[in-house]
Amino acid sequence: MGGADKKEDQLMLWVEGVSRQFNALWAVRDVSFSIEAGEIVGIIGPNGAGKSTLFNLIAAAIRPTSGDIRFLDHTITRAKPYQVSRLGLARTFQIPKPFRQLSVRENVMLSALRRHRTPHRANRLAGETMEFVGIDHLADTSVASLTVGLLKKLEVARALATEPSLLLLDEVMAGLTPPEVREMMAAIAALPSRGVTVLWVEHVMMAIMNVAQRLLVLHRGQLITQGKPAEVSKDPAVIAAYLGEKYAARS
Ligand SMILES: Nc1ncnc2c1ncn2[C@@H]1O[C@H](COP(=O)(O)OP(=O)(O)OP(=O)(O)O)[C@@H](O)[C@H]1O
Ligand SMILES: [Mg+2]
Repeated sequence: MGGADKKEDQLMLWVEGVSRQFNALWAVRDVSFSIEAGEIVGIIGPNGAGKSTLFNLIAAAIRPTSGDIRFLDHTITRAKPYQVSRLGLARTFQIPKPFRQLSVRENVMLSALRRHRTPHRANRLAGETMEFVGIDHLADTSVASLTVGLLKKLEVARALATEPSLLLLDEVMAGLTPPEVREMMAAIAALPSRGVTVLWVEHVMMAIMNVAQRLLVLHRGQLITQGKPAEVSKDPAVIAAYLGEKYAARS
């Protein structure tokens, strides 16, 4: 115990008994889990299970009805979004939210400038981030002309350009072509080696099953199970709540 913990053993995120009620609906109900630095943790579950609401709670966009959230050494349960962002937590939105009248580079620069006040350093960080997600060749393109796949990449680049230690990804694979899915999988898999821990909501099972080291399963706001992808995908409760319906829909 004590000061010299290895980085990998560091607790990145700690969610304890978190609930969020919207009128009569418990969108998230008594959810507890934690994530260590360097992990890639996936969240799966049916539509309306509470996945994006959980992200909104962690990113401090909304407050829990009850429960506590800690990020690194800080209690962020009642923090403001800009405060958790400054502490090193970034998120993407299920529906990308770029500045549509700006270019790709300008969008990424705006994120980088939140980390580095000097334009020179921010510009370098923006360039590296665009290269990492594979949109550097589109730097001067207007965002209005981007395809869904490129908008998703830009969304990831904007989040990464704040140099987060924890990145929340909300359905970054939706609408991507198969080659784009493979590129995004490789980018996500490389994040821990760049010092970024990942919590990732996804419906594209092939991607999350292959890249996430651990899965959390949400159903009707509750965490019904968690474990290694291979174990979770055999869990009868998960098949009944989600995977059965998903695989059945495909055949
Ligand atoms: N601001 C809100 N006000 C009222 N109800 C909300 C609000 N946000 C979410 N909900 C409800 O909470 C439930 C969980 O929604 P959420 O968006 O978290 O689901 P999800 O798991 O992200 O689903 P999907 O896979 O479709 O993105 C849904 O029933 C939704 O209608
Ligand atoms: Mg959602």
